[in-house]
Amino acid sequence: MSEINPDKIAQLIAEAEGLLNSAEDIEQLKSLRSQIIGDDSELTKLNASIKDLPNDQKAEAGKLVGQAKGKISSRYAEVEAKLAAEFKNQQLKKESVDMSAYANLTQQGARHPLTLMMEQVSDAFVGMGWEIAEGPELESEWFNFDALNFDQDHPARAMQDTFFVSPLDAKLVLRTHTSPVQVRSMLERDIPIYVLCPGRVFRTDELDSTHTPVFHQVEGLAIDKGLTMADLKGTLEHFARKMFGEEAEIRLRPSYFPFTEPSAELDVWHPQAKGGPRWVEWGGCGMVNPNVLRASGIDPEEYSGFAFGMGIERTLMFRNGVLDMRDMVEGDMRFARQFGVRV
Ligand code: PHE
Repeated sequence: MSEINPDKIAQLIAEAEGLLNSAEDIEQLKSLRSQIIGDDSELTKLNASIKDLPNDQKAEAGKLVGQAKGKISSRYAEVEAKLAAEFKNQQLKKESVDMSAYANLTQQGARHPLTLMMEQVSDAFVGMGWEIAEGPELESEWFNFDALNFDQDHPARAMQDTFFVSPLDAKLVLRTHTSPVQVRSMLERDIPIYVLCPGRVFRTDELDSTHTPVFHQVEGLAIDKGLTMADLKGTLEHFARKMFGEEAEIRLRPSYFPFTEPSAELDVWHPQAKGGPRWVEWGGCGMVNPNVLRASGIDPEEYSGFAFGMGIERTLMFRNGVLDMRDMVEGDMRFARQFGVRV
């Protein structure tokens, strides 16, 4: 009987199986491949010996060897696939990142809430077709006071607690309000004029919870034919609703500014105010004084206009419940971050 018989074949399969099972990883398996199924394997040797068998045994032997080869090959493939999967799993585990781990994150910047609010205000007006105007912070006394109808000895000049800049005869001040941009806009632009000017202003106040020597205002100016208080009121009402929600209302109380006539204090009905809805003082407004129109080269018989101005810090304080003005100027990132990183 030939060496190639079912028992021998079963034994070879068992041996190959043993080798296959001994491989701990894909590398080892590959190094055993030749012994299991390749050139160095018992099976290959047997296969080679078939040609020396008597003819009548060749077919049977070939079949046995072929079956064994098939079995071992598929077993090999199975083990190979299993070890490859294990290897991949280990690799993934090794390379995995713990997403819950605390990482040393680089701090993300946040834009200052005042900047965000000025942009929001600008958007509300640009949406109505207004333009944004700018003027210098170091302003001539003429634009800051004279052209705005403040008399030389008008108490309002002193009232505004101005930073005068030396040399005094240069007649320069740090602008005490954004209203000089009204005059600049009238001199520089063609009528009709609809401009909004957000900007920094300066007064000699000590820094405390409700004052800061450097703060921001937003000024609005409209010059056209036939503008009336009704246009002013409608514009402010729209603005108030953009800032404080659809239920916001405004009211005007008679007041005095040298550059507007009539003048009014502007209050807003703030529906979401802390401690319940209430009226809050928001800013000043009025119809542009004919003297100011004249100083800006505009004929008050032909054109009229309205103007308004309010403090941005103050608006942020009562809209967002900021209690201390100093939080806005000290530059603590925790303050800015509460308003979100809207870049
Ligand atoms: N400039 C004024 C202020 O600083 C506000 C204001 C602007 C009033 C425009 C009327 C018209 O208080």
